[in-house]
Amino acid sequence: MRNLMEEIEKRRTFAIISHPDAGKTTLTEKLLLYGGAIHLAGSVKARKTARHSVSDWMEIEKQRGISVTSSVLQFDYDGYRINILDTPGHQDFSEDTYRTLMAADSAVMLIDAAKGIEPQTKKLFLVCHRCQLPAFTFVNKLDRYGRNPFDLMDEIEKVLNIHAYPVNWPIGIDGHYKGAYNRLKNVIELFEDDTSHGTKLLKSTTSSLDDPKIKEMFDEETYTNLCNDIELLNLAGDDFDMEKVRNGRLTPMFFGSAMTNFGVKSFLEKFLELSPAPQPHVLQNGNIIEPNNEDFSAFIFKIQANMNPAHRDRIAFMRICSGTFENGMSVYHKQSDKIIKLTQPQQFIAQERTIVEKAYPGDIIGIFDPGIFDIGDSLSDNNLKLQFEDLPVFPPEIFASVQPKNSLKRKQFEKGIKQLSQEGAIQVFEQKGTSRESYIVGVVGVLQLEVLEYRLLNEYGAELLMNKLPFSIARWIYSTNQTVIDNIKGLDNGMLVYDKKDSPVILANNEWSLNWLIERNPEVQFLKVPADLEKI
Ligand code: G4P
Repeated sequence: MRNLMEEIEKRRTFAIISHPDAGKTTLTEKLLLYGGAIHLAGSVKARKTARHSVSDWMEIEKQRGISVTSSVLQFDYDGYRINILDTPGHQDFSEDTYRTLMAADSAVMLIDAAKGIEPQTKKLFLVCHRCQLPAFTFVNKLDRYGRNPFDLMDEIEKVLNIHAYPVNWPIGIDGHYKGAYNRLKNVIELFEDDTSHGTKLLKSTTSSLDDPKIKEMFDEETYTNLCNDIELLNLAGDDFDMEKVRNGRLTPMFFGSAMTNFGVKSFLEKFLELSPAPQPHVLQNGNIIEPNNEDFSAFIFKIQANMNPAHRDRIAFMRICSGTFENGMSVYHKQSDKIIKLTQPQQFIAQERTIVEKAYPGDIIGIFDPGIFDIGDSLSDNNLKLQFEDLPVFPPEIFASVQPKNSLKRKQFEKGIKQLSQEGAIQVFEQKGTSRESYIVGVVGVLQLEVLEYRLLNEYGAELLMNKLPFSIARWIYSTNQTVIDNIKGLDNGMLVYDKKDSPVILANNEWSLNWLIERNPEVQFLKVPADLEKI
């Protein structure tokens, strides 16, 4: 038990959320650099021409320069075991991001100092808020001109409706900051001039604010401004309150530059100290499971096929919620009601995989999936047999009918569509009574359709014929009388299809046509997500 508690206490599992281009990849890379997991960070130029960020996996990510999949990176720092969940920044993959946040214990919100809160930052922050995740803020790109730190604080408070507590405060002139004042430790950290362009650790010296040597290093104006700023923050700002941080009402705020490494180390150290260790998880019956429960439990939040083209396998990613995972163990799989041996458990640093012998709450491991797992599945020791609460499903808003261009590739096409649907990358529907030549796919963001096309061709060798459909709304329908469903009225304003579990779904062009359908079918219930069917 003591061993389990110690392992839990030293774990930190978090996700970085940001608008694309705020510097998430760069910051992730720098955290790995400080953790010793990599020895030289790819400088921006080198990265552009020669290599890509260590968290890029799929070819399409490299081509488009965006992060599509959520990857998981693990490293150690100063006695901590850190799991970073990388989330796709592009809004078209928000479903994946949402599920990833369900597997995290806290989030780091990364903001570009020149741009402040951007649309995707806001959207993702609201998700964190709903998941009740403590959020830490890192204001990035302080090496160049940005907005005034007070302005940024104000914007966070107004736009996100959360109080902000600046932990470190930049010293100097905008774009030429010399260091930062740490308000929790009351020390100054001054950075040495650096010529490595951020590829190596940044050296710094720490001292107290009234150290005469420090005063000498600043000009009068800089020193006075700093003292005034600190006084103002202490007088008018919030007090630091850990309870409020845990409840998501206060965000500790840090300033720095992922590119030059300015403030990265002190952020990492303070973040590890303040952020929560693995938290309890809620079960479907409303009970919770504590991480220090000796019995193993985990849920699957992500499935990914063909991560490594050489292996062509499917990996199911699970977040461990309680107990100890051991290589070769067999667990109860709630959804199939079977005992399953978990094979080839792995942890990842990009394409490098290592076999996991033991893992603890907070850890994310990937296991080989022979095609039996779905996103949201629960795994646990046989004497627990528990079921975690459902992961949220986003109703699709964009629809297309797809079929293989070459009918000889039908088998590969079917396999690809099935696997990508199990990954949660697309939702698949069928029209009954038509020839099974084509499927209807539903997605949340249009980029997901591009990914579908690309992956079917590159991973399954099937070229697609894709026809966009005019629908924008899906509703799962239910009636106690099946003949009502079979004879649904008003279909000139929609289409009746069936999801992968054979539940009937209505696709409608817009709100107006949906209302038309609802009015004409008073005996039918129209539900937003399939999970609502189970609540009836
Ligand atoms: P992302 O994963 O959030 O999308 O961002 P990423 O790290 O790829 O960074 C986006 C751009 O911002 C990169 O420029 C990167 O070098 C730059 N960047 C990241 N952190 C900092 C920082 O602290 N200071 C400055 N000045 N720049 C930073 P890039 O590769 O040249 O791309 P682009 O600018 O041509 O788009």
